Formats: sequence, structure tokens, C-alpha cells
Amino acid sequence: MGELLSGVEESSKKAGRPIRVGMLGFGVVGSGAYRMLTDNRSAILRKVGTPIEIVKVGVRDQEKPRAVSQDLVTTDLNSIVDDPSIDVILELMGGLDLAGELVERALKNGKHVVTANKELIAKRGAKLVSLAATQGLDLHFEAAVGGGIPLIQPLKHQLAGNEVLKMMGILNGTTNYILTKMTQNHLGFEEALGEAQALGYAEADPSSDVDGFDVQFKLAILSSIAFGHEVLPEAIYRQGIREVAAQDIAYADMLGYVIKLLGIVDALEDGGIVARVHPALIPKAHPLASVSGVYNALWVRGDFVGDLMFSGRGAGSDATGSAVVGDLIDVCRNILLGGAGNTSTYDLPVKTRSIDEVTNAFYVRLIVLDKPMVLSKLATVFGQRGVSLSAMEMRVLDAEKQHGEIVFLVHPCLERDFQQAIEELRSAEFVLKVASWMRVQA
Ligand code: NAP
Ligand code: HSE
Repeated sequence: MGELLSGVEESSKKAGRPIRVGMLGFGVVGSGAYRMLTDNRSAILRKVGTPIEIVKVGVRDQEKPRAVSQDLVTTDLNSIVDDPSIDVILELMGGLDLAGELVERALKNGKHVVTANKELIAKRGAKLVSLAATQGLDLHFEAAVGGGIPLIQPLKHQLAGNEVLKMMGILNGTTNYILTKMTQNHLGFEEALGEAQALGYAEADPSSDVDGFDVQFKLAILSSIAFGHEVLPEAIYRQGIREVAAQDIAYADMLGYVIKLLGIVDALEDGGIVARVHPALIPKAHPLASVSGVYNALWVRGDFVGDLMFSGRGAGSDATGSAVVGDLIDVCRNILLGGAGNTSTYDLPVKTRSIDEVTNAFYVRLIVLDKPMVLSKLATVFGQRGVSLSAMEMRVLDAEKQHGEIVFLVHPCLERDFQQAIEELRSAEFVLKVASWMRVQA
């Protein structure tokens, strides 16, 4: 027997049959969703009109203590997706192949699915969404992008009549937490990452966060929904935050900027897109500059609606649990109405263009031989490509060896031209090291 989350409220007597739910995974996200269903059961019953009953919970380690009756816990995940009495599966275990097989099997078995798995939806979403549509079932994944912030549903519904022109956002809680702690508390990278992991923000393999894969997945999902074409992660340029040094954060601050990991997608006139994930300097007055810690934000420009910004907690148990429960409630309402909601299929591939064709300003930090003519040689490398420099900072690192550090901004230019200039600098006799470079987002 499952745990009747509706309790004994008077209203449950009037309710219809309980909706039976099986959970795959009871970690950070699963336990958050369960806690919300338990703590807010009366309000949820009032809003759904029928009780939601968690009847099975699939995990890897049967013996781990959990805030759910041990009677419900099993390591036999197939027994959950094959259980004919279960209406909805919550896939909150993560990973690609096993999770993908279980979601597909659940849909083929006639079950609605809610998932928080951004990797699965980014890589195999088009196929799974089509399967759900064919089966007349819901496949919801609001928690996969932006933690607790409603993003997928507004793009699918309220904004669906717009041509989306551009989206830009901070879409990873772990890296935003790390960069905030490095900036505001002068923490080292590893220490800040350890804190983000302890708070339940990071992926099982945190390189997914730190190296930008997580944002690549999220941007692929958002773009697929916004443009109605399949945007696969590999079509998105990706660069993570490992190279962002404390010196860059300090120089950015001195120049009036903060450093954020951004996901950006621009719609092109030919129907294609250019999409990218990379750290960038943004002016302190920019709306995204004040989005700190685990908070995420997405700025969207639609042709009719204009500019919108969504923000909130982008990771963690409660925020993500809230998104899962929101999706589950939507599914329950659809079940009670006798059908599925809008599944928004996106089968056709999108045309993508390379980041080489994007125009940006840039920040550069070089270690140089501190000798006469260095500045003019530097200006020549960029000047040959019609690009000028600004906001220069210089300091001596070692007077005896004549080693110095130069920091400068490059006025907006084509990515291709900038990269050629950087390559030339790497082999220039006056450059000891290209210590770092980053894009500057206006
Ligand atoms: P987690 O804390 O590691 O929990 C994973 C759960 O799945 C655990 O209960 C684990 O069982 C179970 N599980 C994993 N692999 C399994 C397997 N092979 N067989 C059986 N059970 C298995 O992960 P999480 O942070 O909750 O993340 C879950 C999903 O949500 C991921 O797709 C993640 O990307 C996504 N997500 C996470 C967040 C966040 O803030 N953490 C936010 C949005 C989306 P045990 O408990 O026995 O280990
Ligand atoms: N690891 C992810 C993040 C979880 O830090 O944003 C939320 O998707």
C-alpha cells in the first residue's frame, strides 16, 4: 500500500480516485519533491481535486535511511515502470542510458512522465516528446532548466505566439555560486565548488557544471522549445569556468564588470540560430550582474512581447522539487480531464551557425616582456584587423626580469578576427603567455 499524501482532509472524501505515482530516484530532487507533496498536501489536494499517492520509490541503495516509508523503496526500477496501477513516473535519478530506457518504457506502458533530467531531454528529447505525443501522454521537464523558475511552460504556452529573437541567461546554480563566492568572499575555486556540492547544487559529476555541459543541455532544451526545431547540445559552442582566475575577477571588478557563465542564443534571419555557452564580463549595471549565488535568470526577447526576465533559485532540493511538483499537478489535471496537455514536438533539426561569425568585445590578460614598444606592437596586431583597444591596465610582475602584466579590452570585432589575433600573440616575441581572454557582453 502507498502513502496517501492527501491525509484525512474532509475534501478528500469528495475527491476522485487517487493518482498513483512511481518515483525513480530519491536524492536531492526526489526528496525535495516528496517533501513538498507531504508538507503542502492539503493545498495540493484542494488545487488538484484528487489525492496524489506515491506508491513506489526506486533507488540504488535499499539500505540508505530516507524520509519515506521503507516499504515503498525498491531497487527494481522495472517493477515501477511496468506496474499497471501507476499513472505517472517521476524520473529523478539522472544519467542517460538507464534513465532513457526507463522513460521510454514508461511511455510505451502508457504512463505520463515528469523528469528533471536535462541531459536526457537535451540529447533525446525530440524522440521522447514525439513518443509521448503519439501515445497521448504528457512528458514534462520544467525542473530540467532553471531549477524552480518557470521557463519551459511560459515558452511553450504564454510566449508561443512570439518569434523568439534572443535568449541570454545564467542557467547553472553551481557555477554562479562559485563565481559569486570567488568575487564576493575571495574563496578559491575548489572551496566554493565544495560548498555548492554540500548544498546539493552540483551534478553527480561536477565537471558537467564547471565545464559548461549543464548549460549546454539547458540551452539546447530552451532553444528547441523556443524555436520549435531540434537543437542538439553539440550544435552549441561551449566553454566552462575553469580558466577564470582570481586575477581576472579582480581586474573585471576594477574595470566595472562582473564575470558570469552565460548561455546565449540568437535567432538568425534565415531561420537558423547561433548558440553559445561561455564565461563573459558583463557591466555591473546589467540586470544579470546582480543575479548571485544559486540564483539563475533568463532574459528573453520576443518580437511582440518585447523583453522579459525570469529569475529565481536555479538548483537545490526545494526549488527543483517545486518545479517537479508543478509539472506533476499539471499532469494530474490532464489525467482528470481525460487527456494530455501540449507536448510541443520539435522533430526538425535547426540550422546553426558558428560562433566565428559573432561580434563581441573582449577582455585580454597577457604576461609580457616589459620593454619599449610593447604597447604599439600589441595595438598593431589588432589594428591590422581593423580592431582597436581600450581600457588598458599594466603592472610590473618582476622588475629584474622585466616581466609585466597587461590587461586590456578589445572593441567589438568578429570572433574569427579576435582568435587570429590571439594566435599571433601566442607566438609574438614580446608575449610570455596569453594568461586569459574572455568575451565582454554588453
Ligand atoms: P542525486 O541526489 O544523486 O539523486 C539521484 C537518485 O537517483 C538517488 O536516490 C539514487 O539512489 C538514484 N539513482 C541514481 N542512479 C540510479 C540507478 N542506476 N539505479 C537506481 N537508482 C539510482 O541527484 P539529484 O541532484 O537529485 O539529480 C537528479 C536529476 O535531477 C539529475 O538528472 C539532475 O541533473 C537533475 N537536477 C538536479 C538539480 C539539483 O539541484 N540537484 C536541479 C535540477 C535538475 P541512491 O539514493 O540509492 O543513491
Ligand atoms: N547542477 C545544476 C546547477 C542543477 O547547478 O544548476 C540544476 O539544474
